[in-house]
Amino acid sequence: MENPQNQIKQLREQLSLHAYKYYVLDDPEITDADYDRLYQQLESLEKAHPELITVDSPTQRVGAKPDSGFSEVQHELPMLSLSNQFDDQGIAAFYQRAQEGLETQDQLSISAEPKLDGLAVSLLYEQGVLVRGATRGDGTTGEDITLNVRTIKSIPLKLMGEGWPERLEIRGEIYMPKAGFDAMNERARAAGEKVFVNPRNAAAGSIRQLDPKITASRPLEFCCYGLGTSSGELPDSYIETQRRLSSWGVKISPELEQLDGLDACLDYISRLGARRDSLPYDIDGVVLKIDSRDQQSVLGFRSRDPRWATAYKFPAQEQSTRLIAVDFQVGRTGAVTPVARLEPVFVGGVTVSNATLHNMDEIARLDVRAGDQVIVRRAGDVIPQIVKVVVEQRTGEETAISVPDHCPVCGSEIERTRLVKRGKGKETHAEGAIYRCVGRLACTAQLKQALIHFVSRKAMDIDGLGEKAIEMLVDLELVRSPADLYRLTKDQVLGLEGYAETSASNLINAIADSKQVTLARFIYALGIPEVGEETARILASHLGTLERVRKALPRTLVCLPEVGLEVAYEIYHFCQDSHNAEVMDNLLNEGVELEQQTEIANSLKACMTLDRLINQAAIPSVAETGAKQLADYFGTLDAFLQTDTDRLASVPKLSARGKAGVAAKLADADWVEEQRQFEAQLLEFGIHWESERADQTEAQSLAGETWVLTGTLESMGRNEAKALLQQLGAKVSGSVSAKTSVLVAGPGAGSKLTKAEQLGVKVIDEAQFIAMLESQGLSSS
Ligand code: IVH
Repeated sequence: MENPQNQIKQLREQLSLHAYKYYVLDDPEITDADYDRLYQQLESLEKAHPELITVDSPTQRVGAKPDSGFSEVQHELPMLSLSNQFDDQGIAAFYQRAQEGLETQDQLSISAEPKLDGLAVSLLYEQGVLVRGATRGDGTTGEDITLNVRTIKSIPLKLMGEGWPERLEIRGEIYMPKAGFDAMNERARAAGEKVFVNPRNAAAGSIRQLDPKITASRPLEFCCYGLGTSSGELPDSYIETQRRLSSWGVKISPELEQLDGLDACLDYISRLGARRDSLPYDIDGVVLKIDSRDQQSVLGFRSRDPRWATAYKFPAQEQSTRLIAVDFQVGRTGAVTPVARLEPVFVGGVTVSNATLHNMDEIARLDVRAGDQVIVRRAGDVIPQIVKVVVEQRTGEETAISVPDHCPVCGSEIERTRLVKRGKGKETHAEGAIYRCVGRLACTAQLKQALIHFVSRKAMDIDGLGEKAIEMLVDLELVRSPADLYRLTKDQVLGLEGYAETSASNLINAIADSKQVTLARFIYALGIPEVGEETARILASHLGTLERVRKALPRTLVCLPEVGLEVAYEIYHFCQDSHNAEVMDNLLNEGVELEQQTEIANSLKACMTLDRLINQAAIPSVAETGAKQLADYFGTLDAFLQTDTDRLASVPKLSARGKAGVAAKLADADWVEEQRQFEAQLLEFGIHWESERADQTEAQSLAGETWVLTGTLESMGRNEAKALLQQLGAKVSGSVSAKTSVLVAGPGAGSKLTKAEQLGVKVIDEAQFIAMLESQGLSSS
């Protein structure tokens, strides 16, 4: 057995290397699971030998909260700011001044990189170990944020390799990538918490947390753009220095380029400007630096700005403007969403006059009123958003925004949607943030959108019927419901603008052809809220017929893969609604013929167990384990529903509160009836769940195996393949490692296939996969 000291050293080196590949290079070499395994090994070794723990150990990133606030740090060399340029002339003038300062007509060598929109920090390394992190502050005095910067994984706790100066101050930007920012705000919004206005504020707010645990939970990154003090010799060139830093494990910009002459600088600016929206982080411009440090020192400073560097600023992504009014738009599913009408303003490179306000909760959260001065943000291709109200500029004339009582298009009532949640054996309904016009297809806004969706390529695929034509058909009242499409005559089509003999005949033929349709397409075409292509396919392949889809109870629907409670209720309510029922009936009466299958999917047959049924039955104080006890004890639903207090009292390992919960439910006739109905539905659908327990243990032939899917499968979607594998007891993972049992590779398989081959993992194709499923009595539906 190797000595723990060496083991610890090796583990730390491995972990640091893999963290570097993952966080700095963005190019991981091992799976997250393998990383976690190494990490846990190190953690347990350190637990056994606490005397061997050092500050640069990867396990020591998150420390304890300090007692007092941040202390002050004096910067040995001031942290500078940059002069700004806003056009090519400004850059040309900067370039010319530099040439004059250097007394040369020669082309200058310039380094260019993005100007990251975050906050500047200084990181001090002694003997290669990170000893201090500080904010810029006023440039002379900053705050000590060592504990917080240590939590950022792209900041090395110890420099890699060798040759670094004994004392080295690295400077750069801490920022929050767009995806992390969006996800964080999305979560905060869902939880009703404060959201950040932009990634820069989020990064600054996260780094100024007193508790490093909070900082650690935020998606922050670091990128180096220069040095402060250094005790050793470094190359004269900035770009060479950056490359050296990179070899020590420090993240530098992947966009860094060395340019010769002014034209190359202008070209770089326009190239990066064109890619601004698609970069994974916010940038507010380009920083140009004379590359040679010798030349830099000749040029020196003008007050606090270096004469050897400047920033080209891109158009601001935030501007303030006036919110004129809020309009309400009605979408395909009747959702009424607020749209802000703004005084036009130039932001993020375009003129914006509309912005999204998400929903009414967002309006309440922002406390935004008509007439308010607001901050509009446009970052990337996302729709501009209102992120803040400038409350200081209120005059008192502003007016509150409320959802209209009636639909602005059809005058029907507007209802607030309800959310269904389940937790601890209870189902609760709460108010949702979405409002809906109840007019359905009688509302022309909904009808038009519904028809556009109905004829679209992935739905009924009716070619030759564009949005304009649909508008006309609705406005002329030739079409009041999707079924009316099948009654259109060629003469009626000829009466529409834009149609001639041939195009009208083609359309009539296309409509007729669309009558033969798969159940999945038909369900998708109905436009049930929250039901996209994938869910429609799952409904069709598992339930087989439209009739079953229409009858399915929410509790049956949640047995399907990927169908949650919320979606289940949407489907159920949609199908129960008499208006929608009529729409479906009319379509069938017009001769729409569905390609259906009579059988229910095998995978569904095996999915329902008595304990799952009991667990879903909303019994107070009965959760998963309680449900299992009851199921094991009673064996059938009937026995359970007919039990008396004595028998109930003798159920082993069920809490007294659980028993009381069951007793209360059994006394509720409606509840008992609901359970029976559910059971009846399962039996009607051929879901023979009572004998299922035996089936399932038999079916777990892949238990303990880890399978990976890659490439495309022709006969089924990934989700279905995954569900079938899970049903056989396999774990389905997203990445290939030495622990992978089998890789199923469809056409288009790439790096996973290569890796599997390298590791000698068994690889099978789709045909072999299907043969395996069939041998297990399963088939894709
Ligand atoms: S160089 C003397 N490079 O911009 C040069 N700064 O206005 C000092 N910044 O406080 C900075 N990206 O926070 C430099 N690639 C980059 C930068 C960058 C962002 C920020 C930095 C600084 C501010 C200067």
